[in-house]
Amino acid sequence: MSRITITVNGQSLVGNTHQPLLEQLEQAGMQPEFQCRNGVCGACRCRLDKGQVTQEDAMAYLAAGEILTCSSVPKDDVSLAFDYQFSFIAKKPRTSDSGSAALFLPAYVCFSLFSTELLLNLINWQI
Ligand code: FES
Repeated sequence: MSRITITVNGQSLVGNTHQPLLEQLEQAGMQPEFQCRNGVCGACRCRLDKGQVTQEDAMAYLAAGEILTCSSVPKDDVSLAFDYQFSFIAKKPRTSDSGSAALFLPAYVCFSLFSTELLLNLINWQI
């Protein structure tokens, strides 16, 4: 795997040479258009301004200089141009599962103590 630069509508991100461009753009928080994800619909079409890609077989119509991001894997640094502005989503930082365990344990202890006290009160009340 090689690290490359993917430039999209003037913005750069670090990419690789083993994933389709659509996946890499999404992982970077971009939301380009897509529908089928397998080269049929053409919704993910963009212009390849610089660089080379390996384009898998596709059924969608492509004009000269266009590629399908869902089925194109970059060979080296690439520059892409979409004819629309897509939105970006904020990437959430990954958290470990220890956070949920840290919340679960105190909740479990509180519930257990409350249940025990409730049971003892019921026993005392019946005596
Ligand atoms: S998403 Fe349909 S061709 Fe790429």
